[in-house]
Order: sequence, then C-alpha cells, then structure tokens
Amino acid sequence: MTDSAPSHGFLFDKWLHLYAERVETMRSSEVRDLLAVTARPDIIALAGGSLDIKASNLGRVSDIVADVLTEAGPEALSYGPSEGHLGLRKFLVKFMADEGVDCDVDDIIITQGGQQALELIAKIFINPGDTIVAEAPTYVGALNAFLSYQASIIQVKMDNNGMIMSNMEKTLKDLRDKGIQPKYIYTIPNSQNPGGLSMSLSRRKKLIKLARDYQTLIVEDSAYRRIRFEGEDIPSLKQLDSANVVYIGTFSKILSAGLRVGWVIAPRPIREKLVFAKQAADLCSSSLAQRIVEQFFHETPVNNHINKLITVCRRRRDTMLDALDEFFPKGTTWTKPIGGFFIWVTLPEYIDTTAMLAKAIQQKVAYVPGKAFFADGSGRNCMRLNYSFPKEKDIKEGVRRLAEVIEQEMELYKRLKV
Ligand SMILES: Cc1ncc(COP(=O)(O)O)c(C=O)c1O
Repeated sequence: MTDSAPSHGFLFDKWLHLYAERVETMRSSEVRDLLAVTARPDIIALAGGSLDIKASNLGRVSDIVADVLTEAGPEALSYGPSEGHLGLRKFLVKFMADEGVDCDVDDIIITQGGQQALELIAKIFINPGDTIVAEAPTYVGALNAFLSYQASIIQVKMDNNGMIMSNMEKTLKDLRDKGIQPKYIYTIPNSQNPGGLSMSLSRRKKLIKLARDYQTLIVEDSAYRRIRFEGEDIPSLKQLDSANVVYIGTFSKILSAGLRVGWVIAPRPIREKLVFAKQAADLCSSSLAQRIVEQFFHETPVNNHINKLITVCRRRRDTMLDALDEFFPKGTTWTKPIGGFFIWVTLPEYIDTTAMLAKAIQQKVAYVPGKAFFADGSGRNCMRLNYSFPKEKDIKEGVRRLAEVIEQEMELYKRLKV
C-alpha cells in the first residue's frame, strides 16, 4: 500500500506519534462528509447549507470576472493587504450602516468566509481547556473551529426567542463559582443555524448586560441576518454594544459561497491580533474574489439583489413547512423559521437520526443529523433540513420520502416494544 492509498481504504498512519494533541479534538464535519454522498444526482439533498446559485440571478458574473481582470488585472492577481481590499471595505462600511452599525474601513478585516473569522477568533482567544459558551444547538463549523483549539464548549438551551437568559446567567454564575472565565459567548442571533429563529430584543439586551457583568466578550455571527422573511429587523448585538462585540459577516449566504469572502468587525485591540493571525494563516484573502464581490454590488443594488434571494428562499421555506404539515407523522415537531436556510426537526426520543441516515440515503434523501450541532453528543433525535438549495418539487418529494423513513422507525419501535 502506498501513502496515497484511497481515503476509503484502510491507511496505516505511521505519523501518529508526531501529531499535536489538538488533532485529537478535531472532528470531521458531518455536513462535509455528507456532501460527498448527497452530491449524487439521484439523492434529494436536504443536507446542504448553500444558496441555489442557479436561482439566485447572478446574471453577469462571468462578465464581471472578465471586467475585473481587464480593469485591475495585475492587482486582482497579486497579494493584497491582509486587512482586505479597500474598495470592498468601503462598500462594507455602507452595508453595515444600513444595518445600523457605525464603523470605519479600518474596523473591518476581510476573511475567507465567516468560517475563517471563527477560526481566527478561536486562534487568538482559546488555550487548551478554555471555555466557550454557545447556543444549543449551534453551527457545526463553529463547534469544529473551537474544538480544534481544544475548547470546552457549554451550550445554552434556546426557545423561540433565542438563548434562554436565565440559563445563560446560571451558566455564567456556575462558571464563576468554579473560577472559570469563559473566553466568549458565540451566538447567531438572527435566523439561527440550525433553527431559523431570532433572539428577541429584550434577550439581546440581557445578553449584553450579562457579558459585561461577567467580563466576557460576545461573538456575533450574522451569516443569515439579511435573509429575513418576516418579523421586525431587530438591532444587531454589535449595534447595541459595539465595544464588547466581535461581528462576523459573510457573502456566502447572499452572493456566493465559492468566492470565500466574509468579514469581521472587532474592537481595535482584538482587530490587531486578528490581523496577525490572518497573516500567519494565509497572508491575505483572494484579491480577485474580493474585487468580484465589490464589482457585483457596484452594478447590482444590494437590497434589490437580496430581496430576490428572499423571495426564492421564502417560497421554498413555505413549501417545506407545507410538506412537513402534510407528510410528517404525529409526534414530530419543527421550527417555523423567520429567516435563513434551515428548519430544525425534533423526532420522538427513541429515534437516533445518525443511525437513521443510512436508511434515508437508501430512500434517496439526506439531512444533517442533530448530533452534529452539539459538542456533547445531544440532539440525537433531531435533524436539520435545508430549503434554500433544493427546488420546490424536490423539497416536497424529499420530505415525503423522509416521512416514510421516520414512520418505518416508529413502526419498528412499536413492534419491538410490544
Ligand atoms: C452560522 C454560520 N456561520 C458561518 C458560516 C460559514 O460560512 P462561510 O465561511 O461560507 O462564510 C456558516 C456556513 O454555513 C454558517 O451557517
């Protein structure tokens, strides 16, 4: 066998004695592993987390690439500043002002998607064993970034209005009693991944107060903020408390995930350290990709573009909610997302969605098992369904197939119980 034996075959790892300890806490993302299977055209993938680029009206993108190369070819094909391309940061100052956040070009660092921001934040704050507080459930990629720096993650229960603040207060107090200083509270307050719900204004204010009282930082992941179907536009945590919040944004959910462009806005001392960390990670984000984003929004008014995406996503969310109502058996519940890309489904306690996935794939439908969204293995009877990517007819058929798989599990349980 050679060192380059295929990854699905057994490969003896002769470097085991050399790896850093942190490799042990790194988890492969179940979402990514799944993509390999769900990329098969015969499978209805309710497991992804992307926009449907074909339905996103990106129109002139290939012309834009050509224009960027013609007008700024040498710069677009070179290294750029680690903080990011100035033209894009200027655009972001206006974009953020639209969200009520007052910032300056110097406050913004462009990253390779929101994921790199999460990784860089983890890199500058987390020592092995440090504690991070997050929502239960939360974004898989954030858990993976924090775990790869050997964080201990405590997740705080949510309801329809976001994290329950009495639980948060108790968590922070218990940590203080044990002499533990949590490094930061990670939250996705708008159209959360995986449930699509948002934190209420009163809870945002309480969270800010608690973070201040317990002298910790808030990391606000705003990935889905602009994909809002209904309800009022609640101020971001960054808007409410700029000095104590690190804000993460991304173009993945409003333009293209493949361009890998996101950004982070942080108080100055943190920002400086993030720039050092970014320089060590990748020197700078792609100059070409940043200019493509800049040029796209130079030509296309951002709110018109986003409104079109919202129309597509809202229709697909409604289709999925209708299909769940029509097909899912009694004893199952799900969130009613007010934005974002996902619905979080809870099945009876006795169903293990990780084990059930193989059966679902046999029926040619895929989802993400709930366990992936918890650091401690909870969520085993839950699943995340994506509606932003699949077409409406596939959503309906996918939910119907999944309902059949769940009904079979319920039948089996009833028979074994008797
Ligand atoms: C909540 C959240 N944050 C961050 C990301 C990272 O996305 P990207 O790195 O493409 O910006 C995702 C992607 O699914 C997400 O759901």
